[in-house]
Amino acid sequence: AIRRIDEVLRQPRMDETVEVCGWVRTRRDAAGLSFVEINDGSCLANLQVVVEQGLVNYTTEIRKLSTGCSVRVRGEMVPSPARGQAVELRARTVVVMGWADPDVYPLQKKRHSFEFLRSLPHLRFRTNALGAVARVRSALSFAIHRFFQEQGFLQVHTPVITTSDCEGAGEMFTVTTLEPEQLCAGNTFDDDFFGRHAGLTVSGQLQAEIFALSHSRVYTFGPTFRAENSNTSRHLAEFWMVEPEMAFCDLHDVMATAETMVKFLVTAVMEQCAEDLVLFEQFVAPGLTDRLLQLRDQPFVRLTYTEAVTALERSGKTFAFPVQWGSDLQAEHERYLCEEFVKASVIVTNYPEQIKPFYMRLDDDERTVAAMDVLVAGIGELIGGSQREERLDVLTRRMIAAGLDLEQYGWYLDLRRFGSVPHAGFGLGFERLVQCVTGMQNIRDVIPFPRTPGNAPC
Ligand code: 4AD
Ligand code: MG
Repeated sequence: AIRRIDEVLRQPRMDETVEVCGWVRTRRDAAGLSFVEINDGSCLANLQVVVEQGLVNYTTEIRKLSTGCSVRVRGEMVPSPARGQAVELRARTVVVMGWADPDVYPLQKKRHSFEFLRSLPHLRFRTNALGAVARVRSALSFAIHRFFQEQGFLQVHTPVITTSDCEGAGEMFTVTTLEPEQLCAGNTFDDDFFGRHAGLTVSGQLQAEIFALSHSRVYTFGPTFRAENSNTSRHLAEFWMVEPEMAFCDLHDVMATAETMVKFLVTAVMEQCAEDLVLFEQFVAPGLTDRLLQLRDQPFVRLTYTEAVTALERSGKTFAFPVQWGSDLQAEHERYLCEEFVKASVIVTNYPEQIKPFYMRLDDDERTVAAMDVLVAGIGELIGGSQREERLDVLTRRMIAAGLDLEQYGWYLDLRRFGSVPHAGFGLGFERLVQCVTGMQNIRDVIPFPRTPGNAPC
């Protein structure tokens, strides 16, 4: 059976015959033998394969191996006499599975910029840094399911195609069954999805609420879409969101869940991906380890929006966007609050009612809502959530004010007509979490196939 390289390196049994497969990272020749470093993506470390000139294909093939070639190697694990690795594989046979012409293969041993690698979406995950990102992303995804499943949350598969624009920000991509000629003929999108106007979901929250009101504690984790034309290092047109929704919960409960979850996920990655995190600390984000320890160990500081605005006004800083009560916080404000003002992760609560969506519960002052955003160093907003408006009369009033069609959202109002309960939830931007944990600067480098304005990748 073919063994994974991480397993062979972690639990080497000396003189045992093993068979591994992988892609060549480098080849170095010495007198009478060659050292071939191979990697199969199972871990950051390469396996050093020692090939002696006695092998039948030594001159014809081994001496022609270059970065990117794929090989299958059979041999024995032996202690390595040289520095740099504890063990190595002494090859008995090396089968070249696929060549990669060094004159045209775009990846070389040297470090490539992340920007250059974005032009190679089909090859970039063969590099050390992007390979590590993929492992961290997978570990985080699994840890998210573990976190919720261990606490008895029900996973709900919410739809991708929907008629509800949850955030009401007009950022829903339209899904249409119209033919291109019909589009030009002055048709509108109002009834073009089998008789209705539909789009790609911006959030699974509204459907998750349906399940919270039948199964109490639920979560959804899937792709979401935003047709916003923002070209930043934190925005994508397609991103993954984790959205728990909990009945019999208020704003304080949901803040506690968000904080516990982030700490659980950071702990899980520090345990499972320690080797990858060392690479990020060394080559991508110096100081990352300290930031992760802070995220894991320091309590998140709670501030109301009003307190946050006061702190920003008193900061003496000049921001590109001036702050005043009533305006939304920008990334620069969010980063000031956690990086300079409290020097810890921050949860800002009770935002002005007019800058938040219709479903958030109106506070007693009728000026603010029971909203919460979790802000972290280096990123800004990682999580957005709220307690939901459970009072039929208040919700109806707010939906009318937001210009929503009450008939279309009849089902949502029914949840308040029949057995309404206080409930709350949040959405965590999965790519922002991966950025936070790896220190990767650009969100395009933490998702396999980024969709952003003006890019058409594979
Ligand atoms: O704050 P948002 O818009 O909240 C919601 O969608 C709620 N319905 C969630 C809920 O309560 N169930 O988005 C939630 C999070 C943000 O905090 C951010 O981390 C991420 O999703 N996010 C994006 N990530 C990447 N690209 C974008 N364009 C994003 N927009 C939001
Ligand atoms: Mg938000």
